[in-house]
Amino acid sequence: MARKRLVLKDPGRFSDPASLTWERYVAMQARERERYMAERAAISQDALNYKTVSPQYLERAVDQFANNYYSELSATHYVATAAANAPFDELKKCALFQLADEQRHLEMDREVFERAGIPERDWLAAWEAPGTTCRFFRHLLELEDTIEILVKGNFVAEGAAGPGTFTVLADGAEARGDVLSAINHRARIRDETRHISYGRALVKALIDDDPGNLDTIQEWQDESLRLFAEVARGGERRAWWEGFLASYYKIALPLGLRPSF
Ligand SMILES: [Fe+2]
Ligand SMILES: [Fe+2]
Repeated sequence: MARKRLVLKDPGRFSDPASLTWERYVAMQARERERYMAERAAISQDALNYKTVSPQYLERAVDQFANNYYSELSATHYVATAAANAPFDELKKCALFQLADEQRHLEMDREVFERAGIPERDWLAAWEAPGTTCRFFRHLLELEDTIEILVKGNFVAEGAAGPGTFTVLADGAEARGDVLSAINHRARIRDETRHISYGRALVKALIDDDPGNLDTIQEWQDESLRLFAEVARGGERRAWWEGFLASYYKIALPLGLRPSF
């Protein structure tokens, strides 16, 4: 069956909520980098080299590290596809800046794996194990349509995994002595918030353009959240899952979408 496609008939309805230009983007990321480097400089060498966390923490954290690293790695691929196939320039620009952001996040997460001393041959197995977000991201990687990718990836997935869950992850890591993960999650929140807001602006534009688009967006939401639900199975990640749904519904319900479960 051919996949449903949505078209924004009037592209003028979408504009980048962050009003970025190349000039502004580069200046903003230079400031972000300065802030990040200052936070990182305050971390002791022992903490930076994972000497201050317990061996049990590292054993359990491998799954989380894989969830972070491979979702960012996936994002560098599906956002590149979204940029390449973008139906109009304003959307392409947003996707291209996001692509640069995701590359930066990917490098931060690679550093965590490396400093924690986890051999690269173990990374993929942790990602492919049951209970990760792998299924969702593999689905996104099969898509080619820009609008479907951005609705599912930015609006649904980042909308859900955005501010709420990254704060939970940052606080949890910090409490266990993993300060590098904590500053990485906090650094990422600011970019992810921008990705969510242009995803939200796109969804809003699609609904204003044609209220009938809401049905397809609802289907894309249901499909995405079902692929994520696996992560919550078994109850281990209950707090994560609840924060995840709550973050997402906060932006989705006001636009007329319904809860999936
Ligand atoms: Fe990211
Ligand atoms: Fe992102």
